[in-house]
Amino acid sequence: MAHSPGGLRGLLLQLAVALAASASPTTPRSVAQADYVIVGGGPAGFVLAEYLTRNPKTKVVLLEAGQDTSTNRYVTTPAEFFLALGEAGIVWDYRVQPDPSLGGLAPTLAQGKSLGGGSAVNAMAYCRGAASVYDEWAKISGNANLGWRGMLEAFKATTHWNGDVDAAYTQPVNASSFGQGPLEISRQSKQLVFDQPFVSTLATELQVPIVDFASGAGIGVSQGLQSIRVSNRTRSYAYNTFGYLASTRPNFELRTGAWASKIGFARGKSADSVQYNDTVTGKMRTVNGHEIILAAGAINSPQLLMLSGIGPAGALKRHGIKVVQDTPQVGQNLIDHHYAVVTYTAAPGVDTMWQWRYNATRAAMEEADYARDGSGLLGITNGAGLGAQRLPDGVFQGTGDFQPSLPGDRPHVAYLYSTTPFLASTPNVSVVSAFAAVVQPESRGNVSLASGNYRDAPLIYGNWWGAASDRAAVVAGYKRLRGLFASPQLQAHAPTELYPGADVTADDELWAAIQQGSQSWHHPVGTTALGTVLDSNWRVKGVKGLRVVGASSIPVIPTCPIQAAVYALAHRAAVDIAEADGCRP
Ligand SMILES: Cc1cc2nc3c(=O)[nH]c(=O)nc-3n(C[C@H](O)[C@H](O)[C@H](O)COP(=O)(O)OP(=O)(O)OC[C@H]3O[C@@H](n4cnc5c(N)ncnc54)[C@H](O)[C@@H]3O)c2cc1C
Ligand SMILES: *[C@@H]1O[C@H](CO)[C@@H](O)[C@H](O)[C@H]1NC(C)=O
Ligand SMILES: *[C@@H]1O[C@H](CO)[C@@H](O)[C@H](O)[C@H]1NC(C)=O
Ligand SMILES: *[C@@H]1O[C@H](CO)[C@@H](O)[C@H](O)[C@H]1NC(C)=O
Ligand SMILES: *[C@@H]1O[C@H](CO)[C@@H](O)[C@H](O)[C@H]1NC(C)=O
Ligand SMILES: *[C@@H]1O[C@H](CO)[C@@H](O)[C@H](O)[C@H]1NC(C)=O
Ligand SMILES: *[C@@H]1O[C@H](CO)[C@@H](O)[C@H](O)[C@H]1NC(C)=O
Repeated sequence: MAHSPGGLRGLLLQLAVALAASASPTTPRSVAQADYVIVGGGPAGFVLAEYLTRNPKTKVVLLEAGQDTSTNRYVTTPAEFFLALGEAGIVWDYRVQPDPSLGGLAPTLAQGKSLGGGSAVNAMAYCRGAASVYDEWAKISGNANLGWRGMLEAFKATTHWNGDVDAAYTQPVNASSFGQGPLEISRQSKQLVFDQPFVSTLATELQVPIVDFASGAGIGVSQGLQSIRVSNRTRSYAYNTFGYLASTRPNFELRTGAWASKIGFARGKSADSVQYNDTVTGKMRTVNGHEIILAAGAINSPQLLMLSGIGPAGALKRHGIKVVQDTPQVGQNLIDHHYAVVTYTAAPGVDTMWQWRYNATRAAMEEADYARDGSGLLGITNGAGLGAQRLPDGVFQGTGDFQPSLPGDRPHVAYLYSTTPFLASTPNVSVVSAFAAVVQPESRGNVSLASGNYRDAPLIYGNWWGAASDRAAVVAGYKRLRGLFASPQLQAHAPTELYPGADVTADDELWAAIQQGSQSWHHPVGTTALGTVLDSNWRVKGVKGLRVVGASSIPVIPTCPIQAAVYALAHRAAVDIAEADGCRP
């Protein structure tokens, strides 16, 4: 396996990493007249800020509604990531509207809200998935560099691979798919007891190859890669990489607690300011910029556009908002990965979240190991096996052409396991959970305004399992997953089905269990998409001085977790913007 890279490349890498680590992110700076005002400090916002400020003449102000959470242990400690979702002040606590497809349930769709955005609270899975998705982006957007070849350059530019972990992996990782970028990608420091059985059962039963999901493959099985720093097993994310680098530069200013309420158009249809609530003082302020770039995520970017008069004119008028540009597609095309959950008891000896958290003896050992050198269960995201499968065409009989006619490298369903309980109803015992997710859904949801007040959460219609083909895919995947857990190899480690329960066999009961056990994988995209809302250079069509970059710009969802794609597309956007505006580094 690859070790720490040597030579010039190694030196450059060490320099970049050392710079990022030694940067003082809290140095107060004041930039009088900004060239770019960026709204949102997630992966997109910080990648843009870091790239654009490489040119010392380019002044950038970044507004982030949340605070600095870089010393919060739920943010830094990989195993504890899921606890951050319960913390007020680290997430926007969104729920989708009660969904008829879910028997009226309204699952959470929490979004990151602190420096780092979603990357401060996500599960750190790093995955690129099927190459054909990116080629489709290029076609839809008219931006050729968004195809797989151009995106591979951007995947490399944003990451570096650190293969220097002790665990003996047989699964290869192609280190050449990574470059010298700030974000550190690695593997677990040790394999959990359930990892190998899960991964090998998937590989043999689904008859798919072992892959790394970073080299363009969409179908296969992998012991996943993660955005975790090997040195002390802490989260590597947008703020402590790109954000720290930008913060070393005098032409960058970061304002936290800055909740943007409206984009200003002082000159007709030319955006030139952002109004925001400085939530520390409670006063409204305005910051001017030659150009505004929204990077506020898949839910808040369309919301802010609509609050500013760009969206479906009729709806905006009903909320008393002056229409700047009638763009009906703003907020449409919401795509996400949804999944349905199973839960099993874990045999004694299986490493689980319950063991490190609720077994006092074990918890003390794990705590000590992690504090000493980052080793043990706390430095791991509670399981990292991921498989993705294309279903036979027959599954989709009578549900239309969408799923069967997807390009051949795309899977329909992904399977993942974790040792955290996914469902609130899970009893307080040591468990293994798993899910079947539909990764190329046909159905589309939407985001609209609840009112003209920026403080009111937008309405999110998920439209989960809204298409017959998506229902067919999740039912087939769910049955398959239960079948895998019934195999002797997995039975030995996960003997008893707690959810849905062995007595659930009839089709209608199974569908009810899927509905009750449906959750978002938290990958919403598409609500201000390239090709419809945006032109090929990320500009909002019909107005001037306004771009949108990030998850919301993605026209078609990747086949696996999307942070890799967001970092890389923001790099592509930064290069495109600097090129078009004549401010290359
Ligand atoms: C719980 C969870 C788990 C996830 N797990 C994974 C995973 O394991 N692997 C993976 O690849 N992806 C995962 N993701 C998805 C990934 O993190 C996101 O796709 C990614 O962070 C999107 O980046 P972004 O920059 O477009 O937006 P975000 O990361 O959402 O950042 C937007 C930022 O803008 C700020 N903002 C919003 N509105 C305003 C406003 N009005 N004024 C000022 N600031 C504002 C927000 O506070 C936020 O910090 C997960 C996401 C979540 C929420
Ligand atoms: C982990 O290492 C990084 C980089 O050296 C450092 O900045 C950070 O403070 C460390 N985190 C913890 C919790 O030790
Ligand atoms: C590894 O990745 C590089 C760069 O993407 C590629 O050129 C090479 O063919 C890959 N090697 C293998 C063995 O897949
Ligand atoms: C700004 O935000 C603070 C904190 O959320 C709130 O108390 C205050 O009313 C807001 N001010 C305005 C003018 O909206
Ligand atoms: C789970 O059980 C353990 C002890 O068996 C207890 O310490 C812990 O508080 C329980 N957790 C919850 C959420 O009830
Ligand atoms: C708790 O952890 C200890 C130490 O690993 C282990 O010996 C014991 O079996 C665990 N208890 C339970 C109930 O799993
Ligand atoms: C959003 O989607 C829901 C459910 O599919 C639909 O009923 C509603 O009309 C849509 N709203 C908008 C504004 O498109």
